[in-house]
Order: sequence, then structure tokens, then C-alpha cells
Amino acid sequence: MPPRKIRNADNMVQLGPPLKWAGGKRWLIPHLQPLWQAMPKATRLVEPFCGGLAVSLGLQPQTAWLNDVNPHLINFYEQLKAGLVLQPEGDSLFLNDRDYYNASRDRFNALIVANNANTPEGARLFYYLNRTGFNGLCRFNQKGLFNVPFGRYATINYPLNMHSHQPLLAPWQYSMGDFEAMTPHITPHDWVYADPPYDVEFVTYSQGGFSWADQVRLAEWLVTLPCPVVASNQATPRIMDLYQGLGFNTQTLLAPRRIACNGDRQPAQEMLAIKT
Ligand SMILES: C[S@@+](CC[C@H](N)C(=O)[O-])C[C@H]1O[C@@H](n2cnc3c(N)ncnc32)[C@H](O)[C@@H]1O
Repeated sequence: MPPRKIRNADNMVQLGPPLKWAGGKRWLIPHLQPLWQAMPKATRLVEPFCGGLAVSLGLQPQTAWLNDVNPHLINFYEQLKAGLVLQPEGDSLFLNDRDYYNASRDRFNALIVANNANTPEGARLFYYLNRTGFNGLCRFNQKGLFNVPFGRYATINYPLNMHSHQPLLAPWQYSMGDFEAMTPHITPHDWVYADPPYDVEFVTYSQGGFSWADQVRLAEWLVTLPCPVVASNQATPRIMDLYQGLGFNTQTLLAPRRIACNGDRQPAQEMLAIKT
């Protein structure tokens, strides 16, 4: 079955992200759209943390530079851009079956070990594991091997082609690496939307590999960029202080998720920090 297409008020086809990705910001589009539309038409959208592409697919810029530190994610987009066929003729079908899943995960890990995951086969396996594994998680062990267990879904819809996504993704540019490596190529004609892994209060070191020191490094980097910037994050007191202290205008929104707080499930507060 092809992915569902919806049209928004501007008659743009709205496509959902091609992968399941934690922290997707589709719900933020109505808040980002007015900021994006206030920019000149030729503005390039730059996302240092592009993740599942919910924001680029929602705003649909003509030019975009999309970066993420996850090499498999970026390989998947590069391969889609180059015309990836998810189900080549003669290949076995994707199966929602534990043994088939484990064998596919072994094959994907063998590609990683052989330094050969950066290929169409790596992209096809990544897509299959993403749809079939537990909660769409993307997790690696200390040796860098993918270790997400089988997802046990009753049914899975495997869109077998990405014909609707491919024309949208094709004109955009992709890169893999830490956000700071982007510095020399960001221009005054860009608009940066930064959506890092959430700050989790009382955690100093690693939260999805992104520590408090990384949150500080990011905010201090964003303030130096020669273009307008919007950042989102969990509105923890220290994140609000950090961005306000650097001169960003901040606002808070209720996010469509809940956080456990003293056993209660409180609606999470999201921060939007804006530098014009
Ligand atoms: C919250 S997700 C982004 C979600 C995205 N906005 C969406 O709507 O799908 C954060 C992303 O940051 C990436 N990331 C983590 N550390 C990074 C770093 N140092 N530089 C660039 N990307 C990083 C993760 O791989 C993840 O995809």
C-alpha cells in the first residue's frame, strides 16, 4: 500500500516521514510554518538534526541541507534520492517474522563490520529493521552493532515504494556528522531549525549520546550563526535559562506527550527559542 497523502491549506502534498523516528516534530509544523513563511522565497532550510525529516516534509522548502550524526539514516536518504528500489525483483519479501528479522539484523551487522552498510542493501535493511523492530528504535551496542529486538507487531504495512517521497527528497542535500562541522557552510541566506535530543533534567552525561555539555555547546554555536535560528527542546529550567541567557526569544508550548513527574503524568512543555 502506498503511504497516505494529505494536502494542506497551501495544496502541498503532506507526506509522513518514510521511517519511524523518535522525537518527530510533525506536531510543531503549525508553529514553525509562520516563521518559515516570513523568510524570503530563496531561503535554504538547514536542519543540523534532521532525524525522520518530519519538519522538512512539512515545510517543503525548495532547497534544504539536512544533517544528522546517524550514518544509516543519511545513507537511507541518499539512496532514496538516487532512486532506491526497496524491493528489487527476485529479492525475498519483507516478512514480519522473528527468524527473518534476526537473520536480516545479522546481515545488516555483517555489512557494518565490513564497512559496507553505506549501500543500497544497507538502506533496504535499515528500512526493514526500522519498520519491524521494537518501537522503531535505532540502538547500537558498544561495538556499533544494531541490537534492537523483534517488534512483535500484529501487522506491518511495508510501503514497497517511495515514489511520492523521492521527488521531494531529491533536490535536498544531505550530510552526516556532528552539527558543529556545518559551520563553514552556513550562510546569511539560511534558516536553521535545530531539534537536538531532548534535555533531561538531572542528567549530566549521556542522553542518547547528547550530554548537557553538548546542549550548551549547541546553544552557544547557534547564537554565532549568521542567519535566523529556531531551536526546540524540552523546556527544562536549565534549557530556558541557557537560551534566554544567550538572548534568544523563548516561548513554551504544550507537547502532545507526557512526562512522569512524581508519578503523575504531566503534559510535557516544549521550548521554542528564536533568534532573528
Ligand atoms: C529529536 S531527533 C530529530 C527529530 C526530527 N526533528 C524529526 O522531526 O524527525 C534528534 C536527532 O539528532 C541526532 N543527533 C544526535 N547527536 C547529534 C549531533 N552531535 N550532531 C548531529 N545530529 C545529532 C540524532 O541522530 C536524532 O536523529
